[in-house]
Amino acid sequence: MSQNRRIIIFDTTLRDGEQSPGASMNLEEKLEVAQALHALGVDVIEAGFPIASRGDFEAVRQIAQVIRGTTICGLARCNAQDIDRAWEAVKHAEHPRIHVFLATSAIHREFKLRMTKEEIIQRAVDGVKRAKSYCDDVEFSPEDAARTEIDFLCQVVEAVIRAGATTVNIPDTVGYAVPEQMARVISTLRNRVPNIDQVVLSVHCHNDLGLAVANSLAAVQAGAGQIECTINGIGERAGNCSLEEVVMAMKVRNDVYHTETGIVTQRLVPTSRLVSSITGLHVQRNKAIVGRNAFAHEAGIHQDGLLKEPRTYEIMRPEDVGFTKTDLVLGKHSGRAALADRARALGYNLTGEQLNRVFEQFKELADRKKEVYDSDIAALCEQQLRRVPEKWQFVDYQIHCRTGQTPRVRLHLRHGQEDIVVEESCGDGPVDAIFLAIEKATGIHVMCRDFNVHSVSVGKDAQGEVTVEVEYQGQIHRGRGISTDSLEASAKAFLETINRVALLSQGQQAAQEAAESQP
Ligand code: KIV
Ligand code: ZN
Repeated sequence: MSQNRRIIIFDTTLRDGEQSPGASMNLEEKLEVAQALHALGVDVIEAGFPIASRGDFEAVRQIAQVIRGTTICGLARCNAQDIDRAWEAVKHAEHPRIHVFLATSAIHREFKLRMTKEEIIQRAVDGVKRAKSYCDDVEFSPEDAARTEIDFLCQVVEAVIRAGATTVNIPDTVGYAVPEQMARVISTLRNRVPNIDQVVLSVHCHNDLGLAVANSLAAVQAGAGQIECTINGIGERAGNCSLEEVVMAMKVRNDVYHTETGIVTQRLVPTSRLVSSITGLHVQRNKAIVGRNAFAHEAGIHQDGLLKEPRTYEIMRPEDVGFTKTDLVLGKHSGRAALADRARALGYNLTGEQLNRVFEQFKELADRKKEVYDSDIAALCEQQLRRVPEKWQFVDYQIHCRTGQTPRVRLHLRHGQEDIVVEESCGDGPVDAIFLAIEKATGIHVMCRDFNVHSVSVGKDAQGEVTVEVEYQGQIHRGRGISTDSLEASAKAFLETINRVALLSQGQQAAQEAAESQP
């Protein structure tokens, strides 16, 4: 019989993760991430903060309707309006949860809320009772718990459990705690709160000191039964506890933690890639578990040891977290079946039509570069899966540049059956000139907020991946382009943001026309 304690994995990528600067996702993207989290085996998906916006509400509502089996949670402050809205959003879930929070630390009480300790307890109790009137599964978080006086924290926790909370979550909201302290808080609550065994104790750590994973593990050792975390550790400021790291730490060091989770660890890398490609937040190469270098061995002594016995230098197998065994894969003579096989192994389920398009692009790529790596194939698949309807399509460009001279570009786009060719001879450099030419051709002008280029795989002939973030009428839109030619990748990425703007404007226009045609 297993002696392991089952730890609940509460994923908040779609709520706290989405609070990372520049990480906002649209409805379709949130649904896609929710499906991936479900397949990954998380126990709870915190799908959003329904009162925050109509978009957030809609995303939580649709995720609650679509995902079966996993608990779907909506966040609410401790007030009637928030809680009612959260319930409206999650009520169709098979397993709904309302998560209410209220700050408890002295600094928040005094400066943010201007409330006394008694008022805080009353507000927390009222909030939990209201949530409980809708839903059996209620989580309460005393925000900034790690900086709350321990006696007061015990009082709050006891009161919310009496009011009906089923999970009590201890957030280190500002990432101030250290492992010993986090363990002490959890142990104290377990020893001093008389009704503590009626709830699951949870932990929610931010990473401002780089200690979110260590703090969460310390809390687990002290008896916490739920960890709140995000894919790739994204989240407010320096982020949250990283799901892949905390899960693999518990798995690899089972001798220390004696715990288990429901996570299908082979899905960690595909899920990490999906979240990174949707949010545009790159995973650093040396990131534990899912970074591109996490299993790359450079030193000769290490390589030699690995060949003799992998366990000499590997504490887990790459395939256990979803890396495929070989990296060097296909070439120009590889067929469609081999590509389909590889895409499947990398975690991409393509339809026949998507596979055809990826195959076409793969052939073009294999003509341009000798070796096609897993990361090249992953990039092609992601591009296909994340296709934005293309009002304007990139065809080609010509550019003339010389140091000290203004670049001159001739850009060719397609708009339906129409060919558009524009010439532009301005800009600070070739990328700027291409962006200006696209704006001129499409008539859509945006503010470029971020521009990044990085290589998808290795070698001088590697594909470049460009991500662009633009602002249009106060909203952020992101685009991605890949090509062995980084100017072409830039043009494609920028054009994707323009197509997103066009799609949104089209939707808004249709909604307005429908409203005007109402009697
Ligand atoms: O960091 C925090 O305190 C939170 C709460 C809402 C749980 O995200
Ligand atoms: Zn948080």
